[in-house]
Amino acid sequence: MTVRELNENVDKILQDIPDRDFDKTCILEDFGNITREALALHPEEEISPDRCQKVLGAANTRALGYPLQYILGEWEFYGLKFRVGEGVLIPRADTEALVDVSLVQLRKMHKKLDRKVHVIDLCSGSGCVAISIAKKMEEAAQLYAVELSGEAFPYLSENVRNNNVNVRLFRGDVMDGRMLDNFRDPIDDERFIPIDCIVANPPYLTDDEMSNLQREVTFEPETALYGGSDGLKFYRVIACMWNYLLTPGGLMIFEVGDNESAIVSRILEENGFGDIFTEKDGAGIIRVVGGHKM
Ligand SMILES: C[S@@+](CC[C@H](N)C(=O)[O-])C[C@H]1O[C@@H](n2cnc3c(N)ncnc32)[C@H](O)[C@@H]1O
Repeated sequence: MTVRELNENVDKILQDIPDRDFDKTCILEDFGNITREALALHPEEEISPDRCQKVLGAANTRALGYPLQYILGEWEFYGLKFRVGEGVLIPRADTEALVDVSLVQLRKMHKKLDRKVHVIDLCSGSGCVAISIAKKMEEAAQLYAVELSGEAFPYLSENVRNNNVNVRLFRGDVMDGRMLDNFRDPIDDERFIPIDCIVANPPYLTDDEMSNLQREVTFEPETALYGGSDGLKFYRVIACMWNYLLTPGGLMIFEVGDNESAIVSRILEENGFGDIFTEKDGAGIIRVVGGHKM
């Protein structure tokens, strides 16, 4: 099969995928080693049957609605590469707003405190939030990440290693108070390490949203998506329980679902946070809610 014929076949296979050009380009490049330039300059070049089979296999899988990111096995977030696959949530561009706002606040905090700031990323998944913050803050921050899923955790470890950052990892349940014991001061275990910031993009979809998922999202783990019937169960527990580790003035900052910003702001206020702020994502939807421990 020639480059041109293979391209036409992939195009046909992906005909029901919206914006299929992007998917087609990624699949041709990743599985066939065929760049856009090769397509334009050498359309009659023969491709080996083995390479054709790999490309067509990937295209057929994508046509079933399987996420492109899982097919490629890697995705970019905040300019960094993350390994992804079944069992781990695919990093979303929306979540970059959470990293942006956290970085602004953490840089201010670092300047004011004149010491390394300590940051816990709860519900870390692929580690995209913790790793991006660690990369940008360099020596100015110590990152910790907590993740429950045994399927997601190996991706988290690998992404920390591949991105060459110092993030301490804990496997466990953020709803379990005993997790806080991991943050006891190693010298005096009556005390806890002072934490300056808790950041989280927890599961936040409601019952209604779970029953109307886009086809691609149904391949992602339910445990990464479902936030209880009203979508808010993680915010309530994190704001109430993890609050305990924060220093006075410390920051708690969340990604929130569509229409959740007002109620999450209230949850923060009810749990002793003030100076509540919000921030929109690239689509103009309020995606980030944060506050400082009073
Ligand atoms: C919405 S995903 C966010 C992942 C990642 N932080 C991101 O922004 O792409 C939520 C993550 O929380 C994890 N999770 C769900 N329940 C948890 C729990 N009880 N304790 C710790 N992590 C949990 C899921 O496995 C998933 O990785």
